[in-house]
Amino acid sequence: MLSGIILAESKQPETNSFIIPYFGWKNVLKHCASAFTLPCGTVLTNRIAKSALSENIGSYSHAPTPTLIQAYRVWASGHPGLLITGNIMVDKRALGEPRNVVVEDYTHFDQLQEWANAVKGTEVHLWPQINHPGRQAFSWINKEVVAPSKVSIKLGGASWLFREPKPLEEFEIWEIIKRFGNTARICKEAGFTGCQIHGAHGYLVSQFLSPLTNQRNDQWGGSLVNRARFVVEIYKEIRKQVGPKYPIGIKINSADFQRGGFDELESMQVVEILSQLGMDLIEISGGTYERPTMVKGNRKKSTEEREAYFLDYIEKVRQKTDKPLMLTGGFRTVSVMETALANQKVDIVGLGRPFCLYPQLAQDIFKEKKSHFSTPIPKIGVPLLDRIGGVELPWYEMQIQRLGEGQKPDPKLSGLRVFGTTISRLIRKSFQKN
Ligand SMILES: Cc1cc2nc3c(=O)[nH]c(=O)nc-3n(C[C@H](O)[C@H](O)[C@H](O)COP(=O)(O)O)c2cc1C
Repeated sequence: MLSGIILAESKQPETNSFIIPYFGWKNVLKHCASAFTLPCGTVLTNRIAKSALSENIGSYSHAPTPTLIQAYRVWASGHPGLLITGNIMVDKRALGEPRNVVVEDYTHFDQLQEWANAVKGTEVHLWPQINHPGRQAFSWINKEVVAPSKVSIKLGGASWLFREPKPLEEFEIWEIIKRFGNTARICKEAGFTGCQIHGAHGYLVSQFLSPLTNQRNDQWGGSLVNRARFVVEIYKEIRKQVGPKYPIGIKINSADFQRGGFDELESMQVVEILSQLGMDLIEISGGTYERPTMVKGNRKKSTEEREAYFLDYIEKVRQKTDKPLMLTGGFRTVSVMETALANQKVDIVGLGRPFCLYPQLAQDIFKEKKSHFSTPIPKIGVPLLDRIGGVELPWYEMQIQRLGEGQKPDPKLSGLRVFGTTISRLIRKSFQKN
């Protein structure tokens, strides 16, 4: 058995029944509002989770800012079960965006503590999402870009935005693994109540998993067991540094949706491996910068009418694991979320963009104030940019910034204005020394 090769022990999950808190007679049937216990014993007070959304409002020296922290206070006041931060980088030399938070030592520990404190008194869990971008790192803001192999990003007319990556040496791989553990430990010490490895969307962990981007012929490449070694070692390192009872989750692709890439079969095998290692929560997503299905779904499949993009995959992977599954991508309608939970297809409903426009959405669901959370797709009419979400992602980040500045979300925010701000931030960062 594939998983047997790398694994030592396996744990049985605890069963979860729907324990429905009382919110008034209308709400007793809400599965979304029921508590959930993770295998490690952590209790999430309900099934609604904010998935990671890169906020891009850290300081230019990569510390959490008051604006960022305030946005989390706003989200916490809506009492979802779990808030996962936007990706926090493990190395300031490897940035996805100019204003990413980086946790590699204790430099910004006070601000980190304040961030963790944003949920104080709410019972909301707050987990950092830990990431290394690998080759998906703009050349403007990164002097050197590393990856498993020398395979550049192909984005047509936008490929020039990225450098050809330098293949990682063995000792550098181990150093990055250590960094994931350090970041998780420091965040734990600051007060975060669990953590998530970013194993999806074409970043470094996902680059190691995919045969398209991992063309190594050492112990880190080739067979799936070898390609999965990086994430397995990251899990082990984090576990070593945070102890046995601390929740560790992962966000993983159902597939990259690229010919010859990481596919559903391989993804299910990796889920099996991670389950047996003891992962506490497995979030399912999909896609990469080259195929951004994480925010669009896979148009080739007729999943649109089912709303949640990767629901068909989660039905299959459910047979391979009894670890808790979170599904993110496309959920907008409360009845769809309820049905997915009621049929036990998913344990946790993950939402991204809706949290930017409806920060109190968990309460809106529980109190039956809203039954649908629509999210626009802002465009500026430049096909290349519109195709890769060059405006959409900054538009949603800008909504997070508004939350942090005490403003209400603005669904009519101009895409052009957002685009201008994004460019000026990139230029500013590219002129900085570090
Ligand atoms: C502005 C923005 C930033 C995002 N940043 C991250 C991130 O840091 N890490 C991550 O795993 N996913 C990130 N995502 C993807 C979301 O977590 C989520 O998978 C995606 O938006 C689909 O969910 P939704 O349809 O509910 O928005 C981001 C999405 C958006 C729109």
